[in-house]
Amino acid sequence: MTHRIAFIGAGNMAGALISGLIADGVPAAQLIATDTSAEKCRALSTATGILTLQDNQEAASMADVVVLAVKPQVLKQVALDLAEQIQLSTPLVISIAAGIRCDSLQAWLGGQVALVRTMPNTPAMIQSGATALYATAAVSDHQREQAESLMRAVGLTQWVADESLLDAVTALSGSGPAYYFLVMEAMEAAARNMGLSAETARLLTLQTAFGASRMALESSDPPATLRARVTSPGGTTERALQTLEEGGIHNLFADALEAARDRSIELSNELGKA
Ligand SMILES: NC(=O)c1ccc[n+]([C@@H]2O[C@H](COP(=O)([O-])OP(=O)(O)OC[C@H]3O[C@@H](n4cnc5c(N)ncnc54)[C@H](OP(=O)(O)O)[C@@H]3O)[C@@H](O)[C@H]2O)c1
Repeated sequence: MTHRIAFIGAGNMAGALISGLIADGVPAAQLIATDTSAEKCRALSTATGILTLQDNQEAASMADVVVLAVKPQVLKQVALDLAEQIQLSTPLVISIAAGIRCDSLQAWLGGQVALVRTMPNTPAMIQSGATALYATAAVSDHQREQAESLMRAVGLTQWVADESLLDAVTALSGSGPAYYFLVMEAMEAAARNMGLSAETARLLTLQTAFGASRMALESSDPPATLRARVTSPGGTTERALQTLEEGGIHNLFADALEAARDRSIELSNELGKA
């Protein structure tokens, strides 16, 4: 069978993945997407040249990789409707749905399937995502590579060895963009209070975040070393960092991420029952 990928649900995340794959050189002929909306299907096939269908089972029957990209709340029904086809054609199934555990999904899909569960984040929309992946035992090395290269089309990928770690990933990179937005918001407001214009405060804040992130990504040194390097004794940075340390920044982040991790566990428990 030709290597074909079917996206079930053609929303924001599937759209980002499809654009990323096409930009990576994957031929449009290898991609299929489904959606309940005929209009969305038409728009997507016009924009990308891929085949779009409104029939999930038909799309799954044509693919050796099936990506479940619907909202978590509708995934149970979508999976139950796909079960017969999936058990028949045994594709690699990749779920990008937040909070749906592999055991729930396997049960809805009618038994054991080669299943990779992923947790992408919003910057995937601009091909700058961070995605963690977890593979069930039935996934072959070749299928792991297929899943990884698919998610790499929208950014960085990391495997986790234990599914429960995806709750920590949700707290870190899943919710993480919002933590950085909050820090930007706070820095921008402080700069405005010190007299900078709104535009200058915003642009200097955003470019500083971008520059720091790029330096950290491109350096082999950990952030603590990079921080120490720009903190001269008795200087301005040291004074600011002291204030942040005294305010308990490390504990605050530890508490925030644990709270997010615990909420992720609660939400998964609720969604698994849905
Ligand atoms: N967006 C993110 O940053 C992000 C991050 C991590 C994980 N995720 C996960 O990615 C998944 C998709 O999120 P999204 O933001 O892309 O959502 P979305 O834009 O709402 O996309 C889902 C699409 O599936 C369609 N759909 C609904 N029922 C369907 C069915 N029975 N068959 C086929 N298509 C159906 C929806 O159509 P209607 O609009 O007509 O219902 C919609 O176009 C979610 O499970 C989410 O947890 C997203």
